[in-house]
Amino acid sequence: MKKLIIANWKMNPDTVEQARILVSTLEHRMHQVYSKTDVVICPPFTFLAPLSHYSHLSHIGAQNVSWAASGAFTGEISAAMIKNWRAEYVILGHSERRLYLGETDSMVNAKIIACLNAKLTPVVCLGGEEGAIKDEMKTLVTKQFVKVTKGLEKKHLEKIIFVYEPVWAISTMKNSKPATGSHALELVNHIRSLLGKRLTRERAANMRVLYGGTVNPDNVHEFAKFPQIDGALVGAASLDPEKFWDIINEFARESVHKN
Ligand code: PGA
Repeated sequence: MKKLIIANWKMNPDTVEQARILVSTLEHRMHQVYSKTDVVICPPFTFLAPLSHYSHLSHIGAQNVSWAASGAFTGEISAAMIKNWRAEYVILGHSERRLYLGETDSMVNAKIIACLNAKLTPVVCLGGEEGAIKDEMKTLVTKQFVKVTKGLEKKHLEKIIFVYEPVWAISTMKNSKPATGSHALELVNHIRSLLGKRLTRERAANMRVLYGGTVNPDNVHEFAKFPQIDGALVGAASLDPEKFWDIINEFARESVHKN
């Protein structure tokens, strides 16, 4: 299975020209890793349409979606609109949306269904909740997993990419502390075992589970060295072409070692 590196640009950069330069720089190098690593860029909504013209070997995703198909939802963007911009993925349940915008597990559940109906791949973050502490992450992740996947058929569950995203390990959070590779591995394995119970172990083994706390060139080896961690959801470092490239390369290199 190819590694998957997802860039979450959050509310950056300011201009479409800056966004274009970031994607073009990446595209010039993508042929070097294309066979080993999938890369998805998730810019703000307003850059999705222009960037879809520049991304050929990389893919495009959104950072949010409405749970509703259409109608009176001021300020919202539907899954069909995202699809129309040629995006393929949508990040859901990020801790910043939970903490700052009141997103709940049941909203994430409805958004997963909206994505699947529109044939978009949901990238679902588990591990974000105000005040969450390291020792309680398994309990929190289990609780969120059960709620966000409620009512989903097996064939739909299988289409989701899960991300372990411990809120205390995100660089922008107050008192943030990076997670160790062994902690990330433990929780990635835990998510896969939850999937195994709903599907089968074999089917769960074929799904991608990523790590989503802070990843940068200094700590990427901590995570990339474990074959069970299928990639990363990268925030701040994805806005720096050199740092992002180092992260992609490290996962690509490790995937070759393990094959
Ligand atoms: P960061 O963000 O890489 O900037 O710490 C990670 C995330 O928000 O998942």
